[in-house]
Amino acid sequence: MTEFPFSFSNRFQLLGDLNSENKIYQTKQNLEKSGNAIFDLTNSNPTKLGLEFPPGALSHIFSSLDCSQYDPLAEGLESARKAIVSEYTNREIPAKPSDLVLTASTSEAYSYTFKLFTNPGDEVLTPNPGYPLFSFLIGLENLKEVHYPLKEDPETGRWVYSAETIANCVSTKTKLIVLVSPANPTGSRTTANFWKEWEALGIKIPILLDEVFVGYEFSGEPHQIPEEPTFPLLVCNGFSKMLALPQLKLGWILTKGPEVYQSEIQKNLGFIADTYLSVNSPVQLATPELIPWKTMMQNRIRTRIMRNMAQCVLFVEENPKIKKKPATEAGWYFLLELDLEKKDEDLVLEILSKTNVFLHPGSWYGFSHNRCILIVSLISEEETLRSGLETLQTFLK
Ligand SMILES: Cc1ncc(COP(=O)(O)O)c(C=O)c1O
Repeated sequence: MTEFPFSFSNRFQLLGDLNSENKIYQTKQNLEKSGNAIFDLTNSNPTKLGLEFPPGALSHIFSSLDCSQYDPLAEGLESARKAIVSEYTNREIPAKPSDLVLTASTSEAYSYTFKLFTNPGDEVLTPNPGYPLFSFLIGLENLKEVHYPLKEDPETGRWVYSAETIANCVSTKTKLIVLVSPANPTGSRTTANFWKEWEALGIKIPILLDEVFVGYEFSGEPHQIPEEPTFPLLVCNGFSKMLALPQLKLGWILTKGPEVYQSEIQKNLGFIADTYLSVNSPVQLATPELIPWKTMMQNRIRTRIMRNMAQCVLFVEENPKIKKKPATEAGWYFLLELDLEKKDEDLVLEILSKTNVFLHPGSWYGFSHNRCILIVSLISEEETLRSGLETLQTFLK
C-alpha cells in the first residue's frame, strides 16, 4: 500500500471499499478483450443505443447561439427557466421562473439540496430498492444514508411507496427525505393517495422529489406532485432522461411549499448556485430551443420501451423458471425474477461467462441477494434484447 505524506478525506472510507475490482465487470472486460460480443442488456445511455437527439438539430441550435458574453445569474438565465416553467404549466403544476434554480445535472441538484438542509453526520432517507448513485451522492457530503423500504404488494407484485413505512424510518437526525417517482428501477410512483397519507402524518421534513423519469409512465396510477405541500418540496429533474441529452449537463430544482419558507429557501439555494455558477451558458441559451423536442424524443423512447417490454413479457410467459411478475408500469427498467436457489451475483456471473449475456444483479439496487432478481434496461437496442433473451432462454432450459 502506498504511504501518503498527507491524508485523504474520510469520505472515501465512509463510502466503503472503492478499490476492490468488481468480479462481474472484470469478467465482462476479459470477455470483450478476447473478442467476444456481449449482449449488454444493462445499457441505459440513450446516446449509445440509437436514441440520440438528432445531431443536425443539435448542431443547428448551438451554431446559432451567441455565447461570446458571460452574464452569470446564480439561479440561471431567465429565458431557460421560463422554458422549463412552461413544462410544468403544461402539466398543470403551478410554477414561476423564480421558483427554479438551474444545476449542471440532477445529481448536482441533489448536492445543492444536501448543502441547503444538512450538516455532516445527518441522515438522509432513500428508497430501497433504489438507484445506487444516491449512496455516493450522500457519502460525498459526509452524510449518512438510511434506507426506507418500498413495500412489495403481495397481490400485484408491485413495489409501492408507503407513507407509514417512511415515517417509521424518520429519526431526530433525519434532515431530508428522497422520493424518486417514477423510481429507478422499480417504477414506483408517488400517487395522489400517497401524498394524502403523507400530509396526514404532519411531517415537515423537506422532501427531494426526483422525477427524472416523469413522462415514462405506461399504466397504473399516475405520478403526482402535491398541489400545495405543507413541507418544503424540491422537485429535481434534468435533460438526461427528459431529452436523452445527458451530455448537455442541465438539471434543475423547482421549489414548492408554504410561502413562509420559500424566500429563505430560494435565497440560500441562490447562494449555493452563485458560489459554483456551474451551469454553462450555451446550454442555458439553447434551452428554449431544446425543450420543444421533448415530445418527439420521449415518443421515440417510449416506443422502444413498449416494444422491448412486449419482448420481456413474452419471455416471462414462455419461461417456467421466471416468476410471473407484472409488467413495468413506469421508467426504463424491467425486473426479471428467476425461480432459482442462487445468489443473484453468482447467477449474473454464470450467465455472463457461459452466454455473454450481461444483466445487472438486483442486489446492486438493494433487492435481497437471495432473490434472483435481474435488471434489464428497456431502452436496450431491440435486436440486442431479442438475441440476449433468446440466449438466456437456452441457458435456462
Ligand atoms: C433516478 C435517477 N436520478 C438521478 C439520476 C442522475 O441524473 P443526471 O444525469 O441528471 O445527473 C439518474 C441517472 O440515471 C437516475 O436514474
